[in-house]
Amino acid sequence: MKEILMQIKEVVVDGFKAAGYDEKYGMVSLSNRPDLCQFQCNGAMAAAKEYKKAPIAIANEVVEKLSANSMFSKCEACPPGFINMNLSDEFISDFVSAMADDSERFGVDKVSSPKKVMIDYGGPNVAKPLHVGHLRSAIIGESIKRTARFMGDEVIGDVHLGDWGLQMGLIITELKLRKPELVYFDENYDGEYPTEAPFTISELEEIYPCASGKSKEDEAYKEAALKATFELQHGRRGYQALLSHILNVSVNDLKRNYEKLDVTFDLWKGESDAQPYIPDMVQKMKDDGFAYISEGALVVDVKEETDTKEVPPCMILKSDGASLYNTTDLATMVWRMKDYNPDSIVYVVDKRQELYFTQVFRCAKKTGIVPDSTNLYFVGFGTMNGKDGKPFKTRQGGVMRLEYLLQEVEDKMLEKIKENGTMNDEDAAKTAAIVGLSAVKYGDLSNQASKDYIFDIDRFTSAEGNTGPYILYTIVRCKSILTKAGVSSFDGAILPAHSDSERALQLELTKFMAALSSAYEEMAPHKICAYIYDLANAFNRFYHDTKILAEEDEAVKASYLKLLWLTRGVLEKAIELLGFNAPERM
Ligand code: ARG
Repeated sequence: MKEILMQIKEVVVDGFKAAGYDEKYGMVSLSNRPDLCQFQCNGAMAAAKEYKKAPIAIANEVVEKLSANSMFSKCEACPPGFINMNLSDEFISDFVSAMADDSERFGVDKVSSPKKVMIDYGGPNVAKPLHVGHLRSAIIGESIKRTARFMGDEVIGDVHLGDWGLQMGLIITELKLRKPELVYFDENYDGEYPTEAPFTISELEEIYPCASGKSKEDEAYKEAALKATFELQHGRRGYQALLSHILNVSVNDLKRNYEKLDVTFDLWKGESDAQPYIPDMVQKMKDDGFAYISEGALVVDVKEETDTKEVPPCMILKSDGASLYNTTDLATMVWRMKDYNPDSIVYVVDKRQELYFTQVFRCAKKTGIVPDSTNLYFVGFGTMNGKDGKPFKTRQGGVMRLEYLLQEVEDKMLEKIKENGTMNDEDAAKTAAIVGLSAVKYGDLSNQASKDYIFDIDRFTSAEGNTGPYILYTIVRCKSILTKAGVSSFDGAILPAHSDSERALQLELTKFMAALSSAYEEMAPHKICAYIYDLANAFNRFYHDTKILAEEDEAVKASYLKLLWLTRGVLEKAIELLGFNAPERM
């Protein structure tokens, strides 16, 4: 369906044209004084300059052309030259009725020219525990992915594992100390390696911090880890076999964690998958004259004349010939272009990596790894802080692991559900998991991604205010009324509003399309949150002053129920795009 604002705009544009003014002045926006009107046009003020006329005179002429249109219940010129408009109740109810009749998409059209989009998000580091820093990337990226997919894009989500760094050398070094007899360490061994990993996930999780601690204190240990990393990266068989065990064990564990978060990836590629593309890529950069040696390292200049702060060259190889995070990201673009040829690649990464991505993007464009026709986007997110305003920690002061954080939220939810005492233990636990996830995800997504935010478990789990549980309560409320009413099909239309609160609810529903398209275009899930919070509020106000089930006029009651059904549908679609679900009961 055509967005409501577009529909109004078309009419207003015609009004300007009919009155003899340029159509560019027919801009319409939501009113910033909802007490005065629903929509407004400020074009007469702008036109006044060009036509050297009083704005109010222009506004009056345009209004005269518009007032015959049955779309409006009010259309008036107000000094100094505003055009204030209200839609007729019939127009609004017809619009929301049509939305309700589209039970899959609620009136939201797919984009006319869909794109192929790759999203790089999650970014966990293999063998290191998932921490809350990775939580944001997963949550935001998943919502951007779902929204783009709903709008019709072909979207490929790639987890981009950190599986090629020093952490691998550290783990190998520690394993060698603990289990020197393993065949992986025998340089002369040329047989097959065992299919079973020589460690469990808990061992692996304990080994990494232990090794990382030792390397900070013991120079020789660190040297050994660096050497192991180098040997691994240069094809030492035993180490490569260990790497695939580490990967398998870790990835299984990561999948389990992401499943809990309701986050899924189409590709489980990692930094290591990019390695085969490095030699040719580097050679080409040299051949084409982009890469040169500076202080021993191979670099590509990426600064631009318009830069206001310094953008250092992009380092491709260190002086010892080792590749870097940069090199891997560029080589990853090589296979992404070759295998998928996307129209855009979106990186959902901590905003502290912004300068780094500026360098990498420029280098990719300059050297032709990524053609001009492919857009590269950086969606940087801020830090999740504790109530003390510092990066979120465990009570003991360590880095918070994702699993524990989710557990803590779930426990808190369970406590609340049990206080209400309406569910058996099994249902309560299931509900706590669903509602807990909404608390975490909504708590994150309702903030503009680039901002830091405070993880406040009490606020996030509250059923009041701008929270996930509040949205879920609203959905559950709609569902329970519909269940009580015992209706499942809605043949009639939604009738023109019977009260102010109903009108406000219907009007809010008309804004769904606009909210989704700006969330999609700006890759800004918080716009969906802001919209559903307004919608939930409008619904709850309507609910409080309307007797729905007790309504005696059957047609009115049926219309209320259909409105309820639409509200539920829009809210449920929105939370699906945010990445969580509603329970049956709460
Ligand atoms: N593994 C990285 C980290 O933990 C994030 C990866 C982001 N994606 C990328 N293509 N560099 O910081």
